[in-house]
Amino acid sequence: MRAPMTILGLESSCDDTAAAVVRVDEAGARVLSSVVADQTDLHAAFGGVVPEIAARAHAEKLDLCAEEALTRANLALSEIDAIAVTSGPGLIGGVVSGVMCAKGLALASGKPLYGVNHLAGHALTPRLTDGVAYPYLMLLVSGGHCQFLLVTGPDDFTRLGGTIDDAPGEAFDKVARLIGLPQPGGPIIEAVSNKGNPTRFAFPRALLDRPGCDLSFSGLKTAVLRARDRIVDEKDGITVQDQADLAASFQAAVVEVLAEKTRRAFALVEGGPPPTLCVAGGVASNHSVRAALETVAQEFGAAFVAPPLNLCTDNAAMIAFAAAEQMHLRQPDDLTLAARPRWPLDTSQPGMLGSGKKGAKA
Ligand code: KG4
Ligand code: ZN
Repeated sequence: MRAPMTILGLESSCDDTAAAVVRVDEAGARVLSSVVADQTDLHAAFGGVVPEIAARAHAEKLDLCAEEALTRANLALSEIDAIAVTSGPGLIGGVVSGVMCAKGLALASGKPLYGVNHLAGHALTPRLTDGVAYPYLMLLVSGGHCQFLLVTGPDDFTRLGGTIDDAPGEAFDKVARLIGLPQPGGPIIEAVSNKGNPTRFAFPRALLDRPGCDLSFSGLKTAVLRARDRIVDEKDGITVQDQADLAASFQAAVVEVLAEKTRRAFALVEGGPPPTLCVAGGVASNHSVRAALETVAQEFGAAFVAPPLNLCTDNAAMIAFAAAEQMHLRQPDDLTLAARPRWPLDTSQPGMLGSGKKGAKA
């Protein structure tokens, strides 16, 4: 049996500065504290995340968040067994801020340092929240990422498919901007969709004619733009109802594509009983997405796990937990630990294209 471990995690790869303390012992994993300082207000005037502003805000807030996480966990730094930090992929200035802060804490306290892949943090979250057994099928959907993974171990991820252009969260954010809604777009599009007609606009469901579970969202975004422009031409502006109908029709297209591609991902997993279907990342907090995936899991006779909303969006508990999962497989990092803007989970697959507003699409 592995010794109990208490880990301080740091996360700063996008626009949330986060610190958390996680304890792993024979009873399982427990989040003792999780502090998230979001930067929404700082970026509001710019319509998206400004990397330089994000990096500076992370540098200002990281140590305060770490202190707060320790206070809420009622622990001193000396009582922590290891320091974990997101060392990629993400907006490089933010990742550097986190790595520097973690190195300082590790050096000052003499505790081992673990650089963690942000995507591994999301992908391992169902084990933190629900103790899901390996192997499981993971749909990772966030602002910068979208991929289907077969997770067979703490550092063993097979990518079954992913986006060839935008990530869904990025599409939610861009569509919100197009129809005059604030950032971040995901939660507001979801709220507005509840009052809209999801069948008013027949937006495209991309790549359903292609085998496998790759996805594409950039054409959908353009289709929303055209529909908006048509309405503006006809009526000289868009009404609140038009806005709700555009949002609802867009969300319906995203949900339908994610559901159908999840069926394909199940079909790609060979042999044995169907794996548990898990979902993580910011877009996994969308209730329509969760409901559609749960239905697909039922079709395949598989269990479905969606972590609570605060552990779907960026947080540091997932980073501390990922380090706990991986530490028996690897040595700690030393002070040469580098920040990586790109860091694919499955290095056996060719890299995905481009880089989104919220980081590299590894
Ligand atoms: O995982 P996350 O917190 O950060 C990244 O690593 O990207 O995901 C943030 C993304 C944003 O694009 C946001 O608009 C989207 O997740 N999001 C949502 C919802 N809540 C957050 N998208 C759809 N529906 C939501 N309820
Ligand atoms: Zn994330």
